[in-house]
Amino acid sequence: MNIPDIIIAIDGFSSTGKSSFAKLIAREFGFRYLDSGALYRGVTLYAVEHGLIGDDGVIDTKALGEALPGIDLNFRSGKDGSKTYLGSRCIEKEIRGLAISRKVSPVSTLPQVREYVDRKLRELGRQRRVVIDGRDIGVTVFPDAELKIFMTAAPEVRAMRRMKEMQGKGEDVKFEDVLENVKERDYIDSHREVSPLAKADDAVVLDNSDMTLEEQMVWVKKLIAERFGDD
Ligand code: DC
Repeated sequence: MNIPDIIIAIDGFSSTGKSSFAKLIAREFGFRYLDSGALYRGVTLYAVEHGLIGDDGVIDTKALGEALPGIDLNFRSGKDGSKTYLGSRCIEKEIRGLAISRKVSPVSTLPQVREYVDRKLRELGRQRRVVIDGRDIGVTVFPDAELKIFMTAAPEVRAMRRMKEMQGKGEDVKFEDVLENVKERDYIDSHREVSPLAKADDAVVLDNSDMTLEEQMVWVKKLIAERFGDD
């Protein structure tokens, strides 16, 4: 199916499978996939590695603000999809671990960090034909996106998915800890002052608690065909 040069914004709660879904949509339509959470995770990794977050979780916001313009985060696509890079170093694996997952929410509440990520995304999305996943893409970053999807699923379902994903990567995690992390992030993401997780008025809600990825693809292809198909 040929579709016009649109922006597809996929927002929603953590571990609703936004990135798997966004990647598949991007592949299906030949669009570029942009993972906004990976940029927040990359900034968090940088802060941890440069001693800008103490063991007590306190962030040196002044030093981080000064460092931001020089943090070279980017995406490179290889044979197994798009990967996140810090300069020339692939940081894909590190940014997905529990150590960064535990610290990323507070970092993502900082206005200067949000400005940095928003600017990067707008630059990367300038040519359109992108699928972007995040929390505030449809409301704040690309309010003019032609297709906005808001994803949700029960916390227990999301924690189970996350735990399996982490175990698959060899991390030894307990369900209770993962569930707690999911709920904690929901709370911070929905209640922060700057750009909280929010559904745009014109977003379509997708609750995938009981849906497979294949079923979600059937759903979205139908939606896209109805709205943007040329026949
Ligand atoms: O989607 P994720 O789990 O990789 O996101 C990591 C963190 O970044 C999460 O705590 C929410 C935050 N985030 C955000 O605030 N805004 C976005 N557009 C994307 C992610």
